[in-house]
Amino acid sequence: MSKHIVILAGDGIGPEIMAEAVKVLDKVNQQFNLDLTYSHELLGGCAIDATGVPLPDQTLEAAQKADAILLGAVGGPKWDTIERSIRPERGLLKIRSALNLFANLRPAILYPQLASASSLKPEIVAGLDILIVRELTGGIYFGQPRGIRTLESGERQGYNTDVYSESEIRRIAHVAFQLAMQRNKKVLSVDKANVLEVTELWKEIATEVGKEYPEVQLSHMYVDNCAMQLVRAPKQFDVIFTGNLFGDILSDEAAMLTGSIGMLPSASLDENKKGMYEPCHGSAPDIAGKGIANPLATILSVAMMLRYTFNQEAAAKAIEDAVGKVLDQGLRTADIWTEGSQKVGTSQMGDAVVAAI
Ligand code: NAD
Ligand code: IPM
Ligand code: MN
Repeated sequence: MSKHIVILAGDGIGPEIMAEAVKVLDKVNQQFNLDLTYSHELLGGCAIDATGVPLPDQTLEAAQKADAILLGAVGGPKWDTIERSIRPERGLLKIRSALNLFANLRPAILYPQLASASSLKPEIVAGLDILIVRELTGGIYFGQPRGIRTLESGERQGYNTDVYSESEIRRIAHVAFQLAMQRNKKVLSVDKANVLEVTELWKEIATEVGKEYPEVQLSHMYVDNCAMQLVRAPKQFDVIFTGNLFGDILSDEAAMLTGSIGMLPSASLDENKKGMYEPCHGSAPDIAGKGIANPLATILSVAMMLRYTFNQEAAAKAIEDAVGKVLDQGLRTADIWTEGSQKVGTSQMGDAVVAAI
């Protein structure tokens, strides 16, 4: 039976990297007889320009019906000053929340060919394989009340609320422990329990859920120390389990260990492994339209889609192996370029991956 993917290219470099991901999808679809169909919808700034809102009903309905969603990136300076509730990023948060995509998996894996592209010394990052499990539909991103209010003094005050209920923490904790069982059986729960009650509860529930997984070694770390340890000795980590905001920040940091943010894919899953797949990076307005963005994070997100939603491990592996082969050939986009390698643009990189599958 055919499966349907909704494609949301988005803004900035979104359409450029998505064009390459679709080439790869076409190739595996044919080669592995996957019977995948796809259609394009609008999300983000492009949707605001066309319809006035970042997440049109048509997009949400198509996404709800689809088996999986592939997203480029949204946002950009053009929409940074419009009313906050209809900015591109709100559209992204709304679709994550509406589809209940609470489990965000962000694997930071170093391709050995890129050891010298990392900002850390090769021996610190060689063999790096971390999985960040980030809660995606709660915490300070969604907590109420939020806003900017004017005090009696006339001064304005911005405020947000960091809030997690036990059940929200528990369900994402199970995801982290289950994934750890398939890996090196280590979970690090990241909190700021020395200051924030919401993360004190996080730590408590992580400990409670951990008892159901006696084979998994659970440890805890404050987020500030974790940020430091990630650049000091990142290979000590296996699964990093954390809330929405900390996960956002730590995953960009972890991305750089792998050579570039242009290398980090992600999966955002609901309880049934329906998912939205997207690179961890944004719309990169500084390089949009130049044909130089790295499409590999989006291409690797296609691999994650095939693995997690469609259970097509062989096809997923074929894409990941093809990325390795292309790196073996010495091809590099500007963000991962090092002396002696061959600089290529976005579409050349996509073509090379297709050829290597
Ligand atoms: P960004 O990730 O877009 O860019 C940060 C830096 O990394 C830039 O120098 C950029 O050129 C570089 N970069 C990012 N992706 C790259 C790629 N594939 N290849 C080569 N270089 C790459 O983050 P930002 O500048 O903070 O945000 C820009 C816009 O993107 C904002 O509007 C932000 O809200 C949005 N954003 C969207 C998403 C998303 O859609 N999931 C994620 C992050 C940021
Ligand atoms: C990400 C992005 C988003 C987030 C923004 C654009 C809403 O930074 O996917 O990492 O903070 O979750
Ligand atoms: Mn982010």
